[in-house]
Amino acid sequence: MTANRGKVTTATLRTMKAQRQRISALTAYDHMFAGLLDEAGVDVLLVGDSVATVVQGRDTTVPVTMDQMVYHTELVSRASQRALVVGDMPFLSYQVSIEDAMRNAGRLLKEGLAEAVKLEGGRDFAPTVQRLVAAGIPVMGHLGLTPQSIHQFGSYRARGQDAAEQQGIVDDAKALEQSGAFGIVLEKVPAELGRRVAEAVAIPIIGIGAGPHVDGQILVTPDLLGLFTRFRPRFVRRYRELANEVGEAVRAYCRDVQSGSFPDANESY
Ligand code: KIV
Repeated sequence: MTANRGKVTTATLRTMKAQRQRISALTAYDHMFAGLLDEAGVDVLLVGDSVATVVQGRDTTVPVTMDQMVYHTELVSRASQRALVVGDMPFLSYQVSIEDAMRNAGRLLKEGLAEAVKLEGGRDFAPTVQRLVAAGIPVMGHLGLTPQSIHQFGSYRARGQDAAEQQGIVDDAKALEQSGAFGIVLEKVPAELGRRVAEAVAIPIIGIGAGPHVDGQILVTPDLLGLFTRFRPRFVRRYRELANEVGEAVRAYCRDVQSGSFPDANESY
């Protein structure tokens, strides 16, 4: 948390990297949780396409639509006073053409009230990033494990396992920086590669499973809270086990309804 700091902007994040202050980021999908996370002092709220897996119950992030991302982004944006809100570009919202990317990124800002967008990919998307940035749309890249390409890769294994793949990720990060991206999410790569990428560029590298040497960390909020328990990647630290607590609370409520002890006189009119 960056205490006593005002509204977080893309410039704030760059300054934080320069001053070696670590950036905290979390995903948010709705107004209630976004308000809680913002109030608690997180620097960046990402309306991730992980909404598909953790909220919609889908197997991958591929099916989530542009309309759904706009909807969730607007819920989060209205709750955020301080954190920078980044809306995720869903699969096929930016890959078909630069014109598509412009229109869809514009929707995340105009309708979703986001302050920036995120897209997966490196050198291949440099021209897209350049056009978005030229139009006044701040862009965050996403390298390493890129979940929208799951059907191409066939697994969620860690990326950057050999020298060629590692060099490719460093080159992608440099291309994104040169194209005007203000930051990069780096997912599931060896910690030493995380360090190398963070040292190769001046823009902040926000890691998820990229080790401790990057400029900030992001987690999927339902993972951190122990609300999403279907699977647990090694990089997740669970700060609470809220799924258990929800279960206990609901079982107690059902018992009280069945026994007639809820509602009592104070809870009645
Ligand atoms: O969609 C998402 O939640 C993400 C994070 C894994 C960074 O992209």
